Amino acid sequence: MSSIQTMTLVKPDDWHLHVRDGEVLKDVLGHTASQFGRAVIMPNLKPPVTTVALAKAYQSRIESQLHVLGKSDFKPLMTLYLTDNTPASEVQQAHAEHMIGFKLYPAGATTNSDAGVTNLRNCYKALEAMQKLGMPLLIHGEVTNPEIDVFDREAVFIDRILEPLRNDFPELRIVFEHITTKQAAHYVRDAHTQDKKLIAATITAHHLLMNRNSIFAGGIRPHHYCLPILKREEHRLALLEAATSGSARFFLGTDSAPHSKGLKENDCGCAGCYTAWNALGLYAEAFESIDCLNRLEGFASFFGADFYGLPRNSQKIVLVKKPHSVPSELPMGKDVLVPLRAGQTIAWGLQ
Ligand code: NCD
Ligand code: ZN
Repeated sequence: MSSIQTMTLVKPDDWHLHVRDGEVLKDVLGHTASQFGRAVIMPNLKPPVTTVALAKAYQSRIESQLHVLGKSDFKPLMTLYLTDNTPASEVQQAHAEHMIGFKLYPAGATTNSDAGVTNLRNCYKALEAMQKLGMPLLIHGEVTNPEIDVFDREAVFIDRILEPLRNDFPELRIVFEHITTKQAAHYVRDAHTQDKKLIAATITAHHLLMNRNSIFAGGIRPHHYCLPILKREEHRLALLEAATSGSARFFLGTDSAPHSKGLKENDCGCAGCYTAWNALGLYAEAFESIDCLNRLEGFASFFGADFYGLPRNSQKIVLVKKPHSVPSELPMGKDVLVPLRAGQTIAWGLQ
């Protein structure tokens, strides 16, 4: 265990984030904006953000809220939700309007994915346009076939969907989002590409810190249920190895996903872990656990910006090693949410 007590980093970015809308947006946005410079905002609202017009309207609502919070220096990077019907013209417009990418949700894979893609073949015109323009496709990489074991859905996705997609679109820029398996980490690490910026992956803090035992520790733990679901310890170790490897193909994406306490602690609970409260503290814990804090800055602050072709942030932040208490609940519109580590501590946090 290292003896570092404070650490100065270039301000990080969160390359995969859910902030929802309306009253919930108001309550959660500040947590991310106080730690990060930018975040890629996921489009799985109800209804989903499928057009440039909807994305720009959503961006304005986020920016208004940032103004209220006095955090107008934080930049939301907008995505569009790919559907079976996304025309190539929407891709062209999204590119012209500086949208950051399109998000592929296989229909039925996760929260608010009902309008997602039923068959990638339906999207080939849109994908051709994305490939041509260099617009990234952000992928929720799980098959949805009910006969596939829930713990195998990501690995099967690589063979059945991702590899054929990359064969058909060898120049398409891809971010394999929130990877959870050794297979995904190795696939991205070993992918042969001429261009270094063709494939990358985001990794969450919770997948670096927990394995699937955490869902069942002493009883069922709904706040540890997310998608893709936590996997075996060997997979957690492979993710930790990838995140701390210094490879620019792996970067930070919290996938922080607010759901009300009532909808998590439920007969049929929602998927998602809320980590935005002190996401950087959680990542620092994970990196410190294998004595790799020196690799945190590249992963958190450099590689995502480099992949997306955006400037690195210039501001700095300071992380301090001391127990940071996590509230047992946080406000969430008319409800409350339960953050990851509720009622416990995180070993690191912002100064
Ligand atoms: C996310 C959500 O709640 O929007 N949930 C999750 O478990 N990660 C959706 C997603 O990214 O899969
Ligand atoms: Zn997500």
